[in-house]
Amino acid sequence: MSPTRTMAQLPSARGAPVVGNTLRWLRRPLDTPVQAHRTHGDVFRYDIFFQRPVVFAHPDAIGRILTDPDGDLSTARGWEPFFGRLMKGGLLLRDHDDHRSHRSLMRGAFSSSALQGYLDVMTPRIEARIDAWIDRGEVVLLPEVQRLLLELAGVSLLGVEAPDELDRLIRAFEAIARGVMGLVGVPLPGTALARGLRARADLSRFLKERIAARRKAPGPDLTSQLCSATDEHGAVLTDEEIVDHVIFLWMAAHDTTTGSAVMAAYELARHREWQDRLREEALGLPDRLDVQTSAQATQAGWVIHETLRLYPPIGSIPRRTLRQTTIADVVLPADTPLRAAILLLHRHPEVWTDPERFDPERFAEPRQEHRRHRHAFRPFGTGAHACLGMRLAQLQLHAMLHHLMRHARLRLPDDYVLKLSPAPSLRPADGLPLRLQRVPR
Ligand code: HEM
Repeated sequence: MSPTRTMAQLPSARGAPVVGNTLRWLRRPLDTPVQAHRTHGDVFRYDIFFQRPVVFAHPDAIGRILTDPDGDLSTARGWEPFFGRLMKGGLLLRDHDDHRSHRSLMRGAFSSSALQGYLDVMTPRIEARIDAWIDRGEVVLLPEVQRLLLELAGVSLLGVEAPDELDRLIRAFEAIARGVMGLVGVPLPGTALARGLRARADLSRFLKERIAARRKAPGPDLTSQLCSATDEHGAVLTDEEIVDHVIFLWMAAHDTTTGSAVMAAYELARHREWQDRLREEALGLPDRLDVQTSAQATQAGWVIHETLRLYPPIGSIPRRTLRQTTIADVVLPADTPLRAAILLLHRHPEVWTDPERFDPERFAEPRQEHRRHRHAFRPFGTGAHACLGMRLAQLQLHAMLHHLMRHARLRLPDDYVLKLSPAPSLRPADGLPLRLQRVPR
């Protein structure tokens, strides 16, 4: 047996007194953890947001954490400090048998036919919005994509089409999202958390009316799918549970996909040769992609993967130990906070060649660097809590890139320098000013 280490023997990235690495990370969300990894190796303690989690960066340890074969870890207790009060009842706030039974009830809402239904209502909206950006010639991309994806979620999750209803929903959702990001963890009057909880109560009333209507007359939206879901014992979801899941899904879907779309546009704008390759590929495929034809956009798939590798929207996956357990060579007592550092995994020099470089062909034959280790590439996690919306996210990203590349050339302002903001997921701090020039046809 290989020797083990205790927590006290681990190297520690302490950072500044009291705040630890928090401010440094907020200013430099890529360099700060990458530097800590270079200095301290694959396992270290990292002071951030008044916690000292143990960070794991090696693919073996990350695989062990995410698959958690003996049920030693709690996902719910890992995520609670981030969004416990506002996202209660969501899948990441459930563990083990309780989680398994809810996840199995939700699976049907992500079947190929359900996904095609969502795509049918989303794609025309994506195309219309991108056409409007191209007509304007210049956009700040992040707020545009944010708004578009909020609308798409309203339409596909809830079947809400009316602009005033969509606006009301989006405002409530934004207040909840600000509450999740708020720094004060107690709902004192005037805090983002208090406003978020009020918005959640409003949204929940609205959703319950919607659920009652959907139980009588189902549509192609995800809420209808959840209303009719049954497990193998005939159990169904209550209205309250559907509300919890829909709010959580909206949260899980929104910032992750927004960040990925914007960072993909940034990398494409920097790499004109990849725009040309994707344009040629897109012009050889139908005007509009579906669940099947999306898989034929192979090079766009590599670009999406490379973006998710370099800028994983969930760069660090939290867990907490339920009992004493050993991961890698470290003995962890019960109740220890952990992080599976996806950002560091995706830039691990033992796995990736020239990891800092944007190089989508690393995903192509014969290189296939993501196959160098079973857990080399985990933007969507793995194991019991693997992302339920992975295919939906990829379909949305494909739909956006497909239309964008067929119709526009992207350019960054001269001398543009990217500054990243870390939360809720990696994104350009200035929202990414972008020039779009229509491709003559
Ligand atoms: C690029 C976009 C996305 C990325 C990178 C992403 C990433 C992830 C990751 C890493 C996890 C695992 C977290 C953990 O193990 O603690 C996760 C879970 C989850 N994601 Fe996503 N996600 C994305 C989009 C979506 C979308 C569009 C939806 C739904 C519409 C969604 C729904 C979920 C749900 C429900 C879970 C929890 C699953 C469970 O606990 O069983 N995600 N996501």
